[in-house]
Amino acid sequence: MAQASNGKTTNQKLIAWVEEVAALTKPDDIYWCDGSQEEYDRLCGEMVESGMMIPLNQELRPGCFLARSDPNDVARVENRTFVCWDDPEDAGPNNNWIAPDEMRETMNGLFDGCMRGRTMYVVPFSMGPMGSHIAHIGVQLSDSPYVAASMKIMTRMGQAALDVLGDGDFVPCLHSVGAPLEPGQEDVVWPCNETKYIVHYPQDRSIWSYGSGYGGNALLGKKCFSLRIASIMAKEEGWLAEHMLILGLTSPKGEKTYIAAAFPSACGKTNLAMLIPPEGYEGWTVSTVGDDIAWIKPGDDGKLHAINPEAGYFGVVPGTSTKTNPNAMKMITRDTIFTNVALTDDGDVWWEGKDGDAPDHLIDWQGNDWTPDCGRLAAHANARFTVAAINCPSLDPAWDDPAGVPIDAFVFGGRLSSTFPLVYEAKDWEHGVYMAATMGSEATAAADNQAAIRRDPMAMLPFCGYNMADYFTHWLGFADKNIQLPKIFRVNWFRKDDAGKFIWPGFGENMRVLEWVCERVQGNVDSVEGPLGNMPRYQDLNWSGLEFSSDDFGGIMDLAREDGSNEANSQKELFDSFAGRLPDEMEAQRQALLSDMESAPEVWRAAS
Ligand code: OXD
Ligand code: MN
Repeated sequence: MAQASNGKTTNQKLIAWVEEVAALTKPDDIYWCDGSQEEYDRLCGEMVESGMMIPLNQELRPGCFLARSDPNDVARVENRTFVCWDDPEDAGPNNNWIAPDEMRETMNGLFDGCMRGRTMYVVPFSMGPMGSHIAHIGVQLSDSPYVAASMKIMTRMGQAALDVLGDGDFVPCLHSVGAPLEPGQEDVVWPCNETKYIVHYPQDRSIWSYGSGYGGNALLGKKCFSLRIASIMAKEEGWLAEHMLILGLTSPKGEKTYIAAAFPSACGKTNLAMLIPPEGYEGWTVSTVGDDIAWIKPGDDGKLHAINPEAGYFGVVPGTSTKTNPNAMKMITRDTIFTNVALTDDGDVWWEGKDGDAPDHLIDWQGNDWTPDCGRLAAHANARFTVAAINCPSLDPAWDDPAGVPIDAFVFGGRLSSTFPLVYEAKDWEHGVYMAATMGSEATAAADNQAAIRRDPMAMLPFCGYNMADYFTHWLGFADKNIQLPKIFRVNWFRKDDAGKFIWPGFGENMRVLEWVCERVQGNVDSVEGPLGNMPRYQDLNWSGLEFSSDDFGGIMDLAREDGSNEANSQKELFDSFAGRLPDEMEAQRQALLSDMESAPEVWRAAS
């Protein structure tokens, strides 16, 4: 029997779901996105007309727009994010939990009639190269044209995704800004609702997001699908969904190494993903596969292969400059949606940390006049660019390869002002999982101005869709698979000297550390056994073009016994939070570190 088709798809589950959601949310219209350029241009034109987007000076920034969000809708809302397992233990201490039945009742109430007066966009998308065995299809229903246009940039979106989907399965992603319009009611520039819920149902792998139109709350392919739901799929199916950038490094000899690296938010991930090697450092090229998320599956060749499920970047704008990220500066000169940056008098954009001095006058991210002495930020600290990957000057030739790229190393890093060396390598897989699981970044405790480590295992704390103790077990389990395991490294760009100054120059100079990582992977360089893992000696790094003495090196590599012991002791709090579910290997590794520290010299010196 021929299946019913609506001209776009014969997928019965999809057709039925769209009808069901429309009956609940009661939009004025339903529009199926085809993903074409004409459609994107039309959506942007409509948003310019409604005031939601401002076209920038087309000579200075061709194809660019500025959007200003509601001041109550400027970032991900972790405390309003829920993963609704039947059993709260399955959600773990790392997730907010409400019983699925109770949550469904609340959601059905909120979504009843929530799209009145608006168009419901049907947004089919592929996370990952079309048709890749590592990729998956999602469909987002949203009443926000800003979301539909952003999904065109951030994903492979439109009819082609429906064609790949066929009659197969997809992740249903329902989104509403939660601002229905009564007949005749005038719309606001950025509709949203004070009440916000970002809800994940593991059982049917679905997402319901209400009340926000911003970033990770609203572009559901990103954190909600590609990390929280995908991490659950990955655990069940034997792969990894990680909060990692993917980078290709080609040596002067032509050896290519791909690494995947995880850092908590605000550690410069996008900068590292687009790094340009420093001057005097010839012969190496760095190329970008992804800046935020990696899906990693075992390949037929016995290696782990990674894709970037996204097709664009949603990056933090403030702090971006020709010093910190020259590639990003080029990338966002055209065809970019800016959100919550400042507007210059000549129709360009400005943000804190951009090259040069602040102009004498701006319109700030809230639409108010701004002058350098007014005491307010011109751009919101979480202002963003949304731009297609194909704009990236350092894009890796294999970025869209359905087979993914073979990963040779995992790198984990946080923002840590003491104790942690610039770089060290795990002794083996289990030790590496422990190193990654205990990583963290510093948050300054306001009360005593003491830097406290906020543990963020694998940079996945806000993004792992299930109990993280089980996630550690999942990672450990890769040692039992018949695969060539990547080497695991920890890095720290942020160690400070006694005067509180950063010791390491960072940015492009991070290439020196990445080179050592590549050479370790390729077996071209030695290491010494240090107290935390295997480490380079001073002479093992390439210093050409940089003045950095072996004393300086000591400042970022030495480890005081007391600091190492304190670190091992302070990890107990994280491990205790997982109570009986923590795999034994984790505590055994911590005990080993404690006992190694007991016999360590008072200060372990890297240069000796
Ligand atoms: C992000 C984040 O927005 O990690 O990518 O917070
Ligand atoms: Mn991120």
